[in-house]
Amino acid sequence: MSFAHAHLLGIEQLNPFDITTLLDLAEVYVDLNRRDIKHSDALTGLTQINMFFENSTRTQASFELAGKRLGADVMNMAMQASSIKKGETLIDTAMTLNAMHPDLLVVRHPHSGAVDLLAQKVNCAVLNAGDGKHEHPTQALLDALTIRRAKGGRLQRLNIAICGDIAHSRVARSNILLLGKMENRIRLIGPPTLLPAPFKEFGVEVYDDMRDGLKDVDVVMMLRLQKERMDGGFIPSEREYYHRYGLDAEKLAYAKPDAIVMHPGPMNRGVEIDGEIADDINRSVIQEQVEMGVAVRMAAMDLLARNLRARRTDAGVMA
Ligand code: NCD
Repeated sequence: MSFAHAHLLGIEQLNPFDITTLLDLAEVYVDLNRRDIKHSDALTGLTQINMFFENSTRTQASFELAGKRLGADVMNMAMQASSIKKGETLIDTAMTLNAMHPDLLVVRHPHSGAVDLLAQKVNCAVLNAGDGKHEHPTQALLDALTIRRAKGGRLQRLNIAICGDIAHSRVARSNILLLGKMENRIRLIGPPTLLPAPFKEFGVEVYDDMRDGLKDVDVVMMLRLQKERMDGGFIPSEREYYHRYGLDAEKLAYAKPDAIVMHPGPMNRGVEIDGEIADDINRSVIQEQVEMGVAVRMAAMDLLARNLRARRTDAGVMA
């Protein structure tokens, strides 16, 4: 298997073979997760610590379930109540945890680059569960698996629109990288205030009109308006934003008739997406994304654990 990585910090470090290896293994876990007995021993004996310095519902639950189904001992650190609040630095917290010998550390942090920094300080596998506006690799991988399954196994040469608050979105960044590496055509659609110029360097097409941008696309990926990351007037009003950029049936009609609708959650219904479109089981794959999330995280932790064990065996032989 081709996946020679010690950590999963971003899509940036992965090549198309790594991505395919991970998605193929995730398929095995999709099947396992649909059985009555959802258990494997891929992580038996290993300790997984989840450190979420930012609120999360689905990502944290998904990583927790993924670790438990693979037999790991999983601990969720309550970061709100931790020593961080007492002034301890990220690195001190990490070193303290490191002394407890975890094998997998799942980290979400509000600062871009914080997870990379942490990975340099610990001797276990680190998974980035979202760092600031930088990357959210498991989200892009679960999105890729959802697309590949919905498009009959294909993840190449698709027209994919990523719409909305691109500027503040680590989901958009990781998806642009992944879908680009797999040779898809990417269109970014959003108001210029939420779609800064550097994005044009990613080899994507940029639109500020939904109807133009959605024309004949295979995939419509909506993003949440990240109000918590905005420090000023990026949009005139939510009403106006919905009118121009919210996905409703009229705008979706510009996409291909079999185009799928995606959203990473949590959704602002009536702001970036119409509730009826989100719930339309013929178009929306939002629930599938959640299902694929558990399988993709199982695959990522399984691959990293194999590498971790191999490194430890080598080190043991050398000693
Ligand atoms: C995303 C995140 O946290 O980056 N959500 C998620 O992981 N499910 C997107 C978002 O918060 O809008």
